[in-house]
Amino acid sequence: MTEDSLTRARPGKRRWTWTWNPASEREAGDAIVSNFAFHGFPNKVCKRSIATSYSFWLGTISLFLFLILTLSGVVLMFLYVPSVERAYGSVKDLEYAVSFGRFLRASHRIAAHLMVITVFLHMVRVFLTGAYKNGVHARQNRPLNWWIGLAMLLVTLLLSFTGYLLPWDQLAFWAVTVGTNIANAVPVVGEAVRFVLLGGHEINQNTLIRFYVLHCVFLPMALTGLMAWHLWRVRKDGGLAAHDQVAREERAAPAPPVKSKTYVLLGIAAGRTADVETSVVDTERHLVPAVPGLVRRLFVVALLTFAATSALAVWVGAPLEAAANPQVTPNPAKAPWYFLWLQELVTVTTVRIGGWTINGALVGGVIVPGLLLLLACVVPWLDRSGAEATGAWFHRARRRANAVFLLVCIALVVLTVVGTFLRGPYWNFYWPWEEWPAHPGRY
Ligand code: HEM
Repeated sequence: MTEDSLTRARPGKRRWTWTWNPASEREAGDAIVSNFAFHGFPNKVCKRSIATSYSFWLGTISLFLFLILTLSGVVLMFLYVPSVERAYGSVKDLEYAVSFGRFLRASHRIAAHLMVITVFLHMVRVFLTGAYKNGVHARQNRPLNWWIGLAMLLVTLLLSFTGYLLPWDQLAFWAVTVGTNIANAVPVVGEAVRFVLLGGHEINQNTLIRFYVLHCVFLPMALTGLMAWHLWRVRKDGGLAAHDQVAREERAAPAPPVKSKTYVLLGIAAGRTADVETSVVDTERHLVPAVPGLVRRLFVVALLTFAATSALAVWVGAPLEAAANPQVTPNPAKAPWYFLWLQELVTVTTVRIGGWTINGALVGGVIVPGLLLLLACVVPWLDRSGAEATGAWFHRARRRANAVFLLVCIALVVLTVVGTFLRGPYWNFYWPWEEWPAHPGRY
């Protein structure tokens, strides 16, 4: 078989290989339709959409991190035992007895932390580019993708939180204690929510098995479904919002959607694929074939994500403290780092005036984050700027919205940094160079 026949796609035949350098537009198109892995891609993509300076590939990096988490998580499931008696021992075995166990565990943990960061940054970039707004194409529904994204952010946090308990060490036990105590402050349903989450009034075997099933089955499945919907919406909305911006700059008229092709699924279902908006921009100037334009970049992003996660796994590793002991409370007891802004808010909103006490757990732990989430949900309705502000960084028309959003983000980051690095025993404030008391005692 010649090299040519191996790498060149033939129409009508499903292939796993593709050519990096299609000789013609036809060959580039064939590479998309005849390769299983690229089926979801459009034939051509907008140059500005695949520029790093537009998306910084943050959504894509989140996707690859989820892939790393799934792959390493499946292997970890062969080695981890979700029982109070054996969980800590099985994690210790991973650290000290299993070949590459330490690397595997650290890769999983680092990828989880990185994913929380990249999903948050992806949301920040979507907001600052006004990419939750519809642009010039017909029948777009970008606000829906913003809401799907918010659901994914919550599921990502829950995935990370449920995984936190599994090592069953002191760090895990007390971080989850603090985290679930915040849930307790929700009026009316709080106690019931905590009871259902823990499987009782305290963290024990019931909690471990609940967190394990949520972490390994329910939440990953939910996130996979949401991701598929999210990416399908990106495609339905005519690609990234940068494309709309280019089209608007060209002042081209919206083109009608095209029924792209018919399909048959396993000989059972037949129909037409979703309407895909046709391009309304000068194809020659602004579009490039997805193979190799997009695919090559995706490979580079995937390789860099894998390399960075592996390097950090070797360099930083994953902590493992003493086995969980409900009788010994660490001082300070901290929630996982991505919930420390909440723990800080609880502290700063707990105020005593004379005989009156403002319940910080309710105000800082429930009302403020609840309002923030509500605000994030109604953002697409609050934003009155026109389509010209869609898909452009820091557009003039969204100056005030961007300023408020950035201020909230900076506040969250500052609270997280204070909670992580500057809180010591009894949640007192300490500068990094200040020594903590030698025997802080217990809570
Ligand atoms: C697990 C989490 C997530 C994953 C894996 C993910 C993945 C992606 C990917 C791959 C894209 C294509 C462009 C890019 O790389 O930036 C994208 C676009 C988009 N995402 Fe996400 N995303 C996630 C969370 C979110 C969140 C939290 C939001 C907002 C609340 C959001 C809103 C959007 C929107 C509106 C677009 C279209 C952007 C545009 O047109 O420029 N996503 N997402």
